[in-house]
Amino acid sequence: MSRLIINGGKNLKGEVAISGSKNSALPLIAATLLAPGDYELTNVPHITDVEIFLKIIADLGGKYYFRHNQLKISTKYIRKWHLNQHLVQKLRASILLVAPLLARFGRAEIAHPGGCYIGKRPLDTHLKLFENFGVKIKKSAGRYLFSARKPKPAKIFLNEVSVTATENALLLAAALPGRSVIKSAACEPHVVDLANFLNTMGARISGAGTHTIMIEGAKKLLPTKTFNVSPDYIEAGTYLALGAAAKSRIKVSRINPNYLDAVIHRLREIGIKLIANKDSIEVFPTAKIKSSRIQIDTYPGFPTDLQAPFTVLATQADGTSLVHDWLFERRFSYIEDLAKMGANITLCDPHRILVNGPTELYATKIASPDLRAGMALVIAALIAEGESVIENAELIDRGYENVVEKLKGLGADIRQISN
Ligand code: EPZ
Repeated sequence: MSRLIINGGKNLKGEVAISGSKNSALPLIAATLLAPGDYELTNVPHITDVEIFLKIIADLGGKYYFRHNQLKISTKYIRKWHLNQHLVQKLRASILLVAPLLARFGRAEIAHPGGCYIGKRPLDTHLKLFENFGVKIKKSAGRYLFSARKPKPAKIFLNEVSVTATENALLLAAALPGRSVIKSAACEPHVVDLANFLNTMGARISGAGTHTIMIEGAKKLLPTKTFNVSPDYIEAGTYLALGAAAKSRIKVSRINPNYLDAVIHRLREIGIKLIANKDSIEVFPTAKIKSSRIQIDTYPGFPTDLQAPFTVLATQADGTSLVHDWLFERRFSYIEDLAKMGANITLCDPHRILVNGPTELYATKIASPDLRAGMALVIAALIAEGESVIENAELIDRGYENVVEKLKGLGADIRQISN
């Protein structure tokens, strides 16, 4: 457990080098279970979610060496197919281990995965897709036992454009000789990363990044020597929201601006001055920020993971902004704390809020309810004059690498204290 102490109201300035993507690294690590062997992943972020994921892999018999963003992982000695319940309940992404364990052992057992409480986050889309591949599923006492003597290629339609369900389907289909098709697939860059990785292992996947993905599975997948994790566009969007909200000049580098079309469009639409180059984006202090309608969508729409940081930005805009997150029904839990800081927000229903601005934010004691909301409260504390304390700061470390160092590099007065 830890807390952040932030002395806000300072002008920030500088450059943030963006780390590898959490939501890309996790499915790539899961894919290394498909073929026993030695792998190297580079640009892997040192964040808690990756640490927990690696502990789960080690519990199965995997070995790893993780230093300076380079992960060497050996999956030769994986023997177990039931996942450690205590660890799984910390991480929603554990669900991504079901497909590779099924492909390798014909069985997998997992408790309902935990992670950020941003909604019910059912597993029905995952369960249905596995059934389509001929997998039998038994549920008892909150645990799921998956078994399939001979899973078969399938044509599946996802009833939710679920990112991890798309990734589970890719992981299993890649190991099943024959043609599978995923319709209503998620299009995120991390889905494309996973498809590219599986192609280096011997699968033949086309259409990743669109809503229809074709997979020719391989009889035998082979380990990939080395693969680079793409940059975290959610981290980049978070720091851009900070720069805009704090009316500061901040540059995010080592990114692919093409992943951030929706974010760049939104920032420009509300009047934020910004320059996008080949591998960086820079925002400049903008006196008047316009209010707008922020409706999240599946990729390439506006990401739900940036909803909270952009709500804090909306508190500094002139007029009333509508923020509509239809994807998750409990992703506005942070607005009580934001209101404590002086924000003028109306909760219309579990998916919609109205934000009136601009409002001055006041330093106070708040608590991070989840990963992305925690970072949004950090942005609010950096704007507010005076000393704020953010409890449950360890939730922020789940997905943002070196957040204190990166913010100090921008001139923030911030320190992290273990409780
Ligand atoms: C992934 O979560 C991301 N996590 C989330 O990022 C992200 O918010 C989310 O996609 C949406 O973009 C990882 O990639 C590890 P979903 P995931 O399955 O796959 C419903 C972060 O902060 N649904 O796409 O778990 C679900 O309730 C995290 O980095 C079903 O109904 O999300 C939600 O409304 C938070 N049934 C919607 O689909 C299912 O079986 C999207 O969920 C699965 C999902």
